[in-house]
Amino acid sequence: MAEELLRIRKDLSKKLKKERLEHTIGVMYTAASLAMRYGADIQKALTAGLLHDCGKYCSAKEQIRLCRKYDIRLTGSELEMPALIHAKLGAYLARHEYRIKDQEILDAITWHTTGRPGMTLLEKIIYIADYIEPNRRIIPGLVEIRGIVFQDIDRAVYLSAKNTIRYLSESGKAVDPMTVSTCDYYRK
Ligand SMILES: [Fe+2]
Ligand SMILES: [Fe+2]
Repeated sequence: MAEELLRIRKDLSKKLKKERLEHTIGVMYTAASLAMRYGADIQKALTAGLLHDCGKYCSAKEQIRLCRKYDIRLTGSELEMPALIHAKLGAYLARHEYRIKDQEILDAITWHTTGRPGMTLLEKIIYIADYIEPNRRIIPGLVEIRGIVFQDIDRAVYLSAKNTIRYLSESGKAVDPMTVSTCDYYRK
């Protein structure tokens, strides 16, 4: 593995809880597999996968505090749903702490939770790798998505967004408008 990735991985292993780290490694290798299948840059997929949850090393309250400190603008729905905040914070930390300059990687981190319409291939890869990585607890629809993602990544993105919306609605939680836009865009 490239030296830079090893350095980042070592740092994250000190910061992230064990389960989060396992998930992170799962996303990293799942993203690399998808990059092989779809002809994306494997190193970028590994890097974005490794860093996608780096903003989750602290509590939601602390994440909000850091966003204020670093002047990261949060939307109303992000403040309402603090589970979303780590994506923007993560992209900031990737740039400033882990010295990642590649905008494609930073965007993949930024959009990994909600997705967005018209995602780049790398954005789709990280979005879906986060959803299907092997350590994920089995939830309804996951087996189907794992079964089609290597044939049709756009459909896998659509089904993940749809499942996320259903899960949030059924648990009485708010749904970020961007997740709805992602679902609408990839519905075919
Ligand atoms: Fe995340
Ligand atoms: Fe994640």
